[in-house]
Amino acid sequence: MRRPLIVGNWKMNSDKAGAAALASAIAKGFATAGRADAAVCPPFVYLPLVADAIAGSAIALGAQNMCAEPSGAFTGEVSGPMLVDLGCRYVILGHSERRQLFGESDAVVNRKLIAALKTSLTPIVCVGELLAQREANQTTDVIQSQIAGSLAGLTADEVRRIVVAYEPVWAIGTGKVATPEQAEAVHLDLRRMLATRYNDQLAAETRLLYGGSVKADNARSLLACPNVDGALVGGACLKAEEFLAIIAAAN
Ligand code: PGA
Repeated sequence: MRRPLIVGNWKMNSDKAGAAALASAIAKGFATAGRADAAVCPPFVYLPLVADAIAGSAIALGAQNMCAEPSGAFTGEVSGPMLVDLGCRYVILGHSERRQLFGESDAVVNRKLIAALKTSLTPIVCVGELLAQREANQTTDVIQSQIAGSLAGLTADEVRRIVVAYEPVWAIGTGKVATPEQAEAVHLDLRRMLATRYNDQLAAETRLLYGGSVKADNARSLLACPNVDGALVGGACLKAEEFLAIIAAAN
């Protein structure tokens, strides 16, 4: 009952010509795809040209971040309503690079999440532990506290509209992918946390993505896990063929 979702996080990569070419190739290749949903999240500045390139295809558009405020004197920021205006359906919030490099706390993620939910965007909220935390057996505690902080004050009806991405920080961009057993264990934990905080039905319906060194050759075993509903893909989404192969693995 949970539709698989494969999301490509382009991060701060590509240029105008490369973005158009990559988006077109993905849109063309996805025309024949099956049951999985797919989205691309290019840098803000390329959103309009990627929107054009994927127009008419089933590929959705997403952004990598947004401001918690809808408009006003926030120099350099991009708001949720602006993303909707450009045709975005998804927005990634609380990615570990935002948390680690730009100081985004759970409280900031929470404010952004509340703002995103005031628009038609589907937020993809990222959580994940550092290597030292995993080695100290703190993974569950870390995830629990990120979920508690990021989702603070939200009702079950609001949480029903979000996607959660489990991205162990030690697996992001490192080529060190979590084993299917490690991913499944945390996803199961996440589902239990959602059931405890909200209810069983919501926990059963929420899409939980895995992210961290997902590639065409490891996607199938990760996506075969009963509680892994899709993938948030970084490096491997910059090649159309590789990204399409990951989508195919979800079908
Ligand atoms: P990666 O990045 O696939 O390059 O590890 C994943 C992510 O940061 O979302």
